[in-house]
Parts: sequence; structure tokens; C-alpha cells
Amino acid sequence: MPSLSVFGAQWGDEGKGKLIDLMAKDADLVVRYQGGANAGHTVVVGSEKYVLHLIPSGILNRGTVNVIANGVAVDPLKFLEEVDGLHKRGIAVDGGNLKLSAHAHVIFEHHRVIDQLSERWRGEGRIGTTGRGIGPCYADKAARTGLRIGDLLDPAVCRQRLRAALAEKNALIERVHASTPLDLESQLDRYSMLAERLRPFVCDTGALVRRAARDNKRILFEGAQGAMLDIDGGTEPFVTSSNTGANGIFSGAMFPAKYLNRVIGIAKAYCTRVGEGPFPSEQDNPTGERIRKQGNEYGSTTGRPRRCGWFDAVAVRYAMEVSGGDGLIVTNLDVLSGFDSIQLALRYRLPGGEERREWPADLPNLDSIEPVYESFPGWSEDITAVRRYADLPQRARDYVEALEREIGIPVLMLSVGPERDQVIPRGALMP
Ligand code: IMP
Repeated sequence: MPSLSVFGAQWGDEGKGKLIDLMAKDADLVVRYQGGANAGHTVVVGSEKYVLHLIPSGILNRGTVNVIANGVAVDPLKFLEEVDGLHKRGIAVDGGNLKLSAHAHVIFEHHRVIDQLSERWRGEGRIGTTGRGIGPCYADKAARTGLRIGDLLDPAVCRQRLRAALAEKNALIERVHASTPLDLESQLDRYSMLAERLRPFVCDTGALVRRAARDNKRILFEGAQGAMLDIDGGTEPFVTSSNTGANGIFSGAMFPAKYLNRVIGIAKAYCTRVGEGPFPSEQDNPTGERIRKQGNEYGSTTGRPRRCGWFDAVAVRYAMEVSGGDGLIVTNLDVLSGFDSIQLALRYRLPGGEERREWPADLPNLDSIEPVYESFPGWSEDITAVRRYADLPQRARDYVEALEREIGIPVLMLSVGPERDQVIPRGALMP
């Protein structure tokens, strides 16, 4: 695998954690390049379940170096909570197997507070964020008023920049939102204590990752969220604040595009979305409820019930095209067992009657588009123990092959349950 991008090709929660954990055993480095603790990557190993928010899913594999690169928004509290949680469960985490970029921006308490206050302020127009301070942190990065991990490690710089930041944020918190301002000294005390614990992990991760590429090391880039939540290509404003597809790697890990060898998208055999925003194939009805129940579709970060619907080939085709996807992994195929029929959204019908196979990125409002579905007969067999493609029921294979045909990209693997070994290989992940 010299260097491989694995990203979510829907609206997040595609089951990336499990697949990345599986692929990490062949990787020297696993790199997170965007997002923050808004992500929730679930990995099940035997009877143990791990939910990772910030630390790359490769951490459960001995020998893999895990990198949180400059494009990630890092909440030091969440980072250390996760390190401590892994330690308690006997997973060794130190500056040897976990590297944190000195250039990653810091999520402070005021970012979390403002995230939640802004959502309240937006009222009906709320985004449905995870409340983890992601948007406000990236906003400060773009405004050049944020602090980076390196700034946190230098007490004088930290004091000067945090004082300037809090003066402005407290005005916003108090005067616009009529809420309680934060005290500079107690914030400084808290974050300088945390900084000392971060220090052993901090380095120039860009140099580390580029050196690894030159040395022919195997690098796996772990995307968080999904391509349809991408700040540039997604369903803006109902998106997260980073570039979630393979496109985020180049700036988010300071990694040259020419070094990236392969791109794999991950999509569920159906579709889910958390938070507000367009979701053309959503089933806000008993079918959607049944998918939610069978797939246990509740957020691993916020516990919110996920909105559920059918596989949307228009959205996945677009996501794969934008990131230059070479192959697709389809997860949760087992969740569809027992449905009499399964729908697959092939095209969209626009309000004037025009039908399109392409994602309508030119339309300002996606609320009134109607998917055009093809219906497939379902299968009743439990497929969680199947490990060979040929052993799947014919109807399941027909459905998978229809997905492949519609997306125009090979389906390289299927996942049929949460355990590491519950996969059905179909093609080489790296040629
Ligand atoms: P934020 O990233 O917390 O600002 O939230 C922005 C949007 O992205 C909201 O709709 C969230 O529900 C969604 N989102 C953020 N992280 C994830 C994720 O890991 N999975 C699914 N949706 C997410």
C-alpha cells in the first residue's frame, strides 16, 4: 500500500473505523488530516468495543505510528481523555506511537461554548452540529486568530494570544448571546497544565509523513465524517468545517498530491445522516425506523438517532468522482437482511421534471428533488457469517453488482458485521 486514502463517501458514519483498523495492520502510519472529536470511529475487537474520536483507528495495532496532522482541530481535553481511556484498557499510547502536529489548531472551551450558543442563535436554521467546537475553531484558523498546539507549548505566546482571543470571544458570548464570559486566568491555568501533557506527542508531522513517503513506508490516510459533509463540495451550510474527502489530505497533512497512490471510498449499503440538511433518499417513515433499528443507527459521538434512507447512487458517484476513488467498500450489508424489497436511488427528478444522474451542485435548494429508485427483491438469510462472495444469497449479490454498475467503480470488500473478521473480500485494496 504505499499511500492510501480511505474516506467516507456519504454523510459520515459509514463504518470507516472498523475498516481502517483492519487495514492498519498493513500500514506503517495511520494519519488523521481533518475534523476533530466530532468524529466517532467504532472498532470492535473480540468482546471489546472502542470508540475513537480523535486518535486514529490504527492505535489498536501494535507497531503502527498514528498521526494527528496539522489539519485536525484538536481539543486537548478530549485528546488526553482518549489517551487515558486507552491506557486504562491496556493499550500503550506514547510519543512513539502517537504524533501530534505542532501546527494543528486548538479547540478551547470558548469554541465549544460558542458552537452551542451559535446553534441556539440560528434557531430553525441550525446545522445540528456535534457541539464540539469544530466550526468556531476552524473559523478562527481562517481568521488567523486561533492558537496552534505549538503556541500552547510556549507560555508567553499562549498568554498573549489567548488574551487577545478571549477579549473578542467574551464580547461575543456576553453581548450577543447574553451568556457568561470565561476567565482568562483559569483558562490559562487549565490549558497550560494540559500543554505539558501534550508535549511528548508534539512534532512536525508534515515532515514525518513526507519522509515516510520518500522511504516507501505504507501510509493510510483516515478520513473523518463523509464527503457529502465537505465544506467545499458538500451540502453547505449543512456540512462540517473541513475537507473530508481525499482532497483534504494535501493541505491537512502537508502531503504532496503526487505521493498519493490510491483512494478508497466507504459507503453503507443504505444511507444515514446526523444533523440537519438535505438527504434526498431519506425514509422518514417505518422503513427508515426499521433500518435504524436493524442497523443500531445512533450517533457514537452524540447518541442522536441517525436519519436513515436508501443508498443514494447520485451522491456516492459524486463523492467518488471528486476524490478520484479507485474502489468502494460497502459496509452494513447484513443490516438489509429481511427487507422484502430494497430501493436504490439512481437519479434525481428536479422540480421542473428534468432527471439527472449527476449531483445537482448548481441548485441552491435540494429540498424539492425526488430520487428515482430501482427496486430490488430482498433476501431473508442472515449473512453475518458469510466470508466468501459466492456464498452470499443471489439477491444480495445482485444488489451489490447493481451498486457497482451504478457507481462505475469496483466494490472491493463488503462488511457484514462489526467484528474485524466480518468482511467479504472481492478485490485487492492495493493492486
Ligand atoms: P460539526 O462537525 O460538529 O460542526 O457538525 C456539522 C455537521 O456535521 C452536523 O450535521 C453533524 O451532525 C455532522 N457531523 C460531524 N461529525 C460527524 C460524524 O463523525 N459523523 C456524522 N456526521 C457528523
